[in-house]
Amino acid sequence: MVDGRADPFLVLGIETSCDETAAAVVANGAAILSSVVSSQVDLHARFGGVVPEIASRAHVELLTPAVAEALIEAGVTSGVDAVAATVGPGLAGALLVGVSTAKALALVWDVPFIGVNHMEAHLYAALLEEPDLKPPLVALLVSGGHTMLVEMQDHGRYRLLGSTVDDAAGEAFDKVARFLGLGYPGGPAIQEAAASGNPEAIRFPRAMMDDGYEFSFSGLKTAVINHVRKHPEVTTPDVAASFQAAVVDVLVTKAVRAAEECGAEALCLGGGVAANGPLRERTAAECARRGLRAVLPSRAMCTDNAAMVAAAGWWQLQADGPTALDVGVQPNLGLPV
Ligand code: KG4
Ligand code: ZN
Repeated sequence: MVDGRADPFLVLGIETSCDETAAAVVANGAAILSSVVSSQVDLHARFGGVVPEIASRAHVELLTPAVAEALIEAGVTSGVDAVAATVGPGLAGALLVGVSTAKALALVWDVPFIGVNHMEAHLYAALLEEPDLKPPLVALLVSGGHTMLVEMQDHGRYRLLGSTVDDAAGEAFDKVARFLGLGYPGGPAIQEAAASGNPEAIRFPRAMMDDGYEFSFSGLKTAVINHVRKHPEVTTPDVAASFQAAVVDVLVTKAVRAAEECGAEALCLGGGVAANGPLRERTAAECARRGLRAVLPSRAMCTDNAAMVAAAGWWQLQADGPTALDVGVQPNLGLPV
């Protein structure tokens, strides 16, 4: 209920920060009525990564059908109450498509526009699926462009504990997959190859494991490349499994330590890398041993989607009100700490 109204408050969410064109309708920031994701993976796969100009053009083509599908699937007949879109971080041209569309719809429908931070949205994916979850909590946000350990003290109040000093975790998966010839996107490809490999075959370095909450994955990527060049007889599954084990080890060790040191009751995962099976299993196991609640959003909610944008938008609207329509896209937007 918002403003004492009994009918659900519907937010249309729009996400176009990278290579997924997504639209969703969420009621009261908690119930997903629809969540449509049009992936552009096939368009970018032959280039081995996201091509920004291709992404922008594809968003232009895919977004209107995605919005229509989300509204129809949600059974929206008398309009939505607000439109939320990711304003950053992300690719400038790609963001522009979603933000312009959202502003236009908000104007036409005469409802508030809400500009949402993409990383905050990844965090809200956890709250969306587990509505009884309340701050304070610690979140490990791991995507293609970011790796952050965040203490969420309250809604909209964050403390950045640490981030990566070089490559993001997803970027490391993508670069190593490309080197191993496993294709794009790299995360799922590495996970699949690793399934038949031995995670203890090669002891790759765990950078900055014992100090602080910063991460570094660039040295690990170089170690993988050097090892394969020196030992051409190694199998791809063993390299993939050993690399994945090193990433998971560092991420989980630091995240669990952060949750304990902050006195948080829950540790949440978010972002595309949080779809990784071994990362989820290890997080669940380490949390269980310490009596911490592990919050692992479904895989569809970990990777980019618009339901998380709508949910984050709903909370933001209540706390800060609508976003001015003259706000621009913010490709380098940080978390509001
Ligand atoms: O959050 P996301 O969908 O988009 C960004 O905001 O970047 O994250 C995409 C990243 C890519 O680097 C992709 O390789 C990685 O998430 N990813 C995974 C898995 N699924 C996606 N990494 C490891 N294991 C996975 N199963
Ligand atoms: Zn993302």
